[in-house]
Amino acid sequence: MHLLILGGTRFVGRAVVDAALAAGAEVTLFNRGLTAPGLFPQLETVLGDRSTDLSALAGRRFDLVIDCAGYEPAVVARSVAALGEAVDRYVFVSSVSVYADQTTAPVEGAVVREDDSYGGRKAACERIVLAGFGDRALIARSGLLVGPHDPTERFAYWTRRFTRGGPVLAPGHPADPAQFLDVRDLGAWLVDATASGIHNAVGLSLPMGELLDVCRTVAGSNAPLVWRSTADLLAAGVAPWMGVPLWIGDPAWSAANLVDGRRARAHGLRTRPIVQTVTDVATWDAARGGPLDGREPLPADDERRLLLATS
Ligand SMILES: NC(=O)c1ccc[n+]([C@@H]2O[C@H](COP(=O)([O-])OP(=O)(O)OC[C@H]3O[C@@H](n4cnc5c(N)ncnc54)[C@H](OP(=O)(O)O)[C@@H]3O)[C@@H](O)[C@H]2O)c1
Repeated sequence: MHLLILGGTRFVGRAVVDAALAAGAEVTLFNRGLTAPGLFPQLETVLGDRSTDLSALAGRRFDLVIDCAGYEPAVVARSVAALGEAVDRYVFVSSVSVYADQTTAPVEGAVVREDDSYGGRKAACERIVLAGFGDRALIARSGLLVGPHDPTERFAYWTRRFTRGGPVLAPGHPADPAQFLDVRDLGAWLVDATASGIHNAVGLSLPMGELLDVCRTVAGSNAPLVWRSTADLLAAGVAPWMGVPLWIGDPAWSAANLVDGRRARAHGLRTRPIVQTVTDVATWDAARGGPLDGREPLPADDERRLLLATS
């Protein structure tokens, strides 16, 4: 199999490359050569800016293209037009943010956003891929993706926090749902999948309390968890989404961690044990020495103030 990866050098694409190589595929990357240049010196990289010019791919043929990081409909339309005759299958990494209603567990047939938000633009990209490739397209609507090389700092925070010790602010209620997919499991599925159409690419939901217990165990910590309700956090002025890692806190997104992933699982998506993901992220995080800019997503002083303010 000769696979073309649009992107490939940041997070999702990187996991796709690793999975493709593990599957024995021949891999060609297409990117601008700006993000982590030299990351895969053994691979052919075709240089180009997909938003303006894909002519460097003219005349090439591939079995499969995986479009890791398409966000703008006009840009994705350009790729679809350029690759229509050049590839057998088009896999598009989309997002569960496409769903218009995030207060009931999203399923694939639900209404999608039509606005200019991130989700609305992803939905427009999906329509372009489906119009161009029909049943030769796979749309992978991903939920929260985690794993080594995650640039967002949402997940690695937790084992690091438990390692530091002392009372740990835990957001919401222990029974609140958490949901994530190891990016390496997504990569393996995208490379292998023969399914077509729209699939939610998500892991199983689990209680937040269970996830934090795994993080604490992996950190080898006995730091106590101090739960603070979403209402208390909001009343204390904590910003939804960004205030505490992995906490959403926005009532309009109350079902965002309850996405139905049965279709993808029925079509081969496999998820590794949570403890493996948490352990590997912690190992990666320790090796890099914590956040690259040195800034904790929830700094210790802010956490302490918040614990006092909400007690
Ligand atoms: N993280 C999550 O929890 C989450 C959840 C749901 C969905 N998603 C989706 O996951 C994907 C994340 O992508 P990623 O950044 O990790 O993918 P990636 O493929 O690892 O990295 C982005 C790649 O795109 C290339 N690129 C950027 N602009 C380009 C341009 N104009 N022309 C050609 N190449 C360009 C970059 O290389 P150069 O800079 O060298 O060009 C880089 O290789 C997105 O599709 C996002 O919507 C993420």
